[in-house]
Amino acid sequence: MSCDLLIIGGDGDLALRKLYPALYSLWKSGRLPADMRVLAIARRELSQADFLEQVRTWFDRSKSASQYSPTDWESFCSRIEYCRQDATSSEGMASLAEIHLSDSERDIVVYLATPPQIFAPICRALDTAGLVRPNTRIVVEKPLGESRETFLEINDQLTSIFEEDQVYRIDHYLGKETVQNLLALRFANTFLEPLWNNKYIDNVQITVAESIGVSGRWDFYDAAGAMRDMVQNHLLQLLCLAAMEPPARLASTAVRNEKLKVLSCLRPMDKKMVRENTVIGQYTAGAVDGEAVPGYGEEEGAKPGSETETFVALKTYLDNWRWAGVPFYLRTGKRLQHRYSEIVVEFKQVAHSIFGAQLPAGTPNRMIIRLQPDETISLELMNKVAGLDANAPLRKVTLDLTFPEDSAIGPKPNAYQRLLLDVVRNNSTLFVRADEVEEAWKWVDCIQSVWEEAGKRAERYTAGSDGPSQAIALIARDGRNWHEYH
Ligand code: BG6
Repeated sequence: MSCDLLIIGGDGDLALRKLYPALYSLWKSGRLPADMRVLAIARRELSQADFLEQVRTWFDRSKSASQYSPTDWESFCSRIEYCRQDATSSEGMASLAEIHLSDSERDIVVYLATPPQIFAPICRALDTAGLVRPNTRIVVEKPLGESRETFLEINDQLTSIFEEDQVYRIDHYLGKETVQNLLALRFANTFLEPLWNNKYIDNVQITVAESIGVSGRWDFYDAAGAMRDMVQNHLLQLLCLAAMEPPARLASTAVRNEKLKVLSCLRPMDKKMVRENTVIGQYTAGAVDGEAVPGYGEEEGAKPGSETETFVALKTYLDNWRWAGVPFYLRTGKRLQHRYSEIVVEFKQVAHSIFGAQLPAGTPNRMIIRLQPDETISLELMNKVAGLDANAPLRKVTLDLTFPEDSAIGPKPNAYQRLLLDVVRNNSTLFVRADEVEEAWKWVDCIQSVWEEAGKRAERYTAGSDGPSQAIALIARDGRNWHEYH
């Protein structure tokens, strides 16, 4: 298959940090079409050599750098061309089309690595320039609005020009290796399915903890907050994959239909429920990894008086047959003690213990699906300690269900490698459909509006801690604990 990739915003942060390093790895492993061209489109006056130097600088800082080889790098660079062009101008795009994209048999992938405010004029320019063909695909990434309403506005702009199946909405969490493995574990084995329901599962916890702060983008972050930045997309997508019914096949429509059903079962929260089941926090100055860090309000570019949440913890339910009564606890935050992401499925205690004091309370079986920093899936089981002591307590053992690193397979691909390759291959299974995004916003909007109506006030937590104590109380009230990182 022949395909060309247009990266609009080709000199920007996302492109330099994530896209080129991922493309290099794909190129090196021979997975991209041999005649593929990458057109980096941006307005800046920049020579091809200076542009490639920037690509190289960011590549050297990326994980892909370990795969560097001079010959591959040279052939990779020969496929990329920097095109100085205003992507919102129809004439500009038409001349680009004439020079580079005249063969309508070749697929075109347009990656909009730009703010959504200019999606509409770019799409119009692509259309007028004749670049919106049946074999054109467009890739967009969050933020896709800050509410259902604003999402629909952005989406209408895209879908007034592209068909829904041409639009690839990236949620990079869906490209992570362990997330793929979760699907294999759930749907390629028989032993889990009979247990994967409210009869055997006590609760599910999803944590995405970050130790970084707002990374120099205070203004952007302040308008979003952790709920819009992380929960609306990454955490809810993880919840979908953990909770969805088995799709009939591993294909885009089947998988996305099942995820949509999960989102539509999220219990909407009224005022009382928001008060009781959500906690928001904001970090104050502290220390992370032994280094002093400023509070959110003292970060570069910060404006005084912000109550934007840098932490959210909440409890929710899925109102369907499988999950009735099972709480899903979600939490995410910045400047926490550790960086880790995991889904923890906690099973119920045995119905009747025959071991008395030998089986300590509070030792349920757990499945831990860790996405970061290491990618592992493990199962905690109770086991007998070998020996003749009749009263020795049973002991927890952890079964590692992760496929060992195989040097023949090479390093695990990162999310952008997988997702970029899927767009090139025209496989949208791991991309989010508009109705999913809309459903997620509906649920989030409901919570946001209660927070705002009540005069949002974020609990303060010290940077480098585990978040506000109210988040611990949220789950402790139910007689449970957050699964802590170790
Ligand atoms: C992004 C958020 O979508 O995900 C960032 O905008 C966050 O605020 C990032 O830091 C986390 O991604 P990852 O893959 O590093 O966990």
